[in-house]
Amino acid sequence: MRLLVTGGAGYVGSVCSHVLVEAGHEVTVLDDLSTGNRGAVPEQAKLVVGDIDDSADEVLAGGDFDGVLHFAARSLVGESVEKPDVYWHHNFVSTLKLLDAMRAHGVNSLVFSSTAATYGEPAEVPITEDFPTAPTNPYGATKLAIDHLITSYAAAFGLGATSLRYFNVAGAHGAVGESREVETHLIPLVLQVALGQREKIFIFGDDYPTEDGTAVRDYIHIRDLADAHLLALTTNEPGRHRIFNLGSGDGYSVRQVIETCREVTGHPIPAEVAPRRAGDPAVLVASSERIKEELGWNPTRTDLPRIVADAWAFTKDLDAAAYRAGKA
Ligand code: UFG
Repeated sequence: MRLLVTGGAGYVGSVCSHVLVEAGHEVTVLDDLSTGNRGAVPEQAKLVVGDIDDSADEVLAGGDFDGVLHFAARSLVGESVEKPDVYWHHNFVSTLKLLDAMRAHGVNSLVFSSTAATYGEPAEVPITEDFPTAPTNPYGATKLAIDHLITSYAAAFGLGATSLRYFNVAGAHGAVGESREVETHLIPLVLQVALGQREKIFIFGDDYPTEDGTAVRDYIHIRDLADAHLLALTTNEPGRHRIFNLGSGDGYSVRQVIETCREVTGHPIPAEVAPRRAGDPAVLVASSERIKEELGWNPTRTDLPRIVADAWAFTKDLDAAAYRAGKA
C-alpha cells in the first residue's frame, strides 16, 4: 500500500514506519521535526518536512495514497495543562484539516494514535473500551475529541478508521527507539541514570493505594504496538470506526520498573522518593481482549524484562545528536 505517516520521525511513528517498510509498503513521512529525529525515518521512506496545516493537503493531492497513519501530536500531559491552546490547535485542529484533506483527495483509510489518557482515572482495572471516557487533562481531551471526530466522519463520509488507545509504550525496534530532547517518561529516564547521564531517578509518589505505594502502569513493547497498526490498517472497513486498547493486561509499579532496569543493566540506579506528579492516576492497566479477539493481535515481546532489554540495547549505543540530525 502507499501510505502517509504523520509524525513518522517520532518514537512510535518511526518504529511503525520501519515496520511498514519492512512489510513492503511504500511510506511517505510527514513530520515537522519539532520533536522527532531525522535519523529515525527509514531510508526507504520519503520524508516531507512540514506540518499538517501547511503540507498535508499538498502531499495527499499528489500521492494517490491508500491510507494514513496519524501519529503527529503533542503528547505531554503536564504541558497540555499549561498550554491547552497549543494542544487543541496541534492535535485537534490539525487532525480536522488532515481528515478534510483525506476526504478531498479520496483517501479513505486511517489509523489513529489515541491514548489511555482518554479514560482518565478509572474506577477499576483492567480498562476495557466500554469504560467511560473522562480525561483529566487537555492532552487526553484532545485525543478523545479526535476519536469523536473520526466516528462522525466514518458515519457520514464512509471513512474506514481505527483508533488505537496505547497504554505505556516502551522498548525499541533494533536501532530505532525512544530519544527526545525533553524526556519525561520513566523507562528512558531510568536508563539515562544507568548510563551516568543522570545522578538518580525520582519516584513520583510512594503513597498510592498500591502494593508498594508507587503508581502502576501497563507497559507494551513498541514492536507489538507496531504490529497492531498493521493489523488495523489491513482490516479497516469503509464507514466503520473501531477503537481498541493496547496494553499487556499486567501492571508494574514504578519500583518494579526500576528494579527490572537494575537487573537488565547491572547498574545500581539510585532512586529517591519525590512528591506525586500532578494528574497521575494510581493504576492504569488495559484489557486488550477486544483487539486479540477481533484482529488476532498476538503480542510476543510484551514482557517487562524484554521491553527494558531492547530499550537498553538501543539507548546504550545511541548518539542522540546524530540520531536527531539524521547523521547516525
Ligand atoms: N515516573 C516517576 N519518575 C519519573 C518519571 C515517571 O516516578 O521520573 C512515574 C510517573 O509518575 C508514572 C509512571 O512513572 O506513575 C509512568 O510515567 P510515564 O511518564 O513514563 O508515563 P505516563 O503513565 O505518565 O504516561 C503515559 C503516556 C501518556 C499518556 C498517559 C496516560 O506516555 O502519553 O500514559 O495517563 F497520556
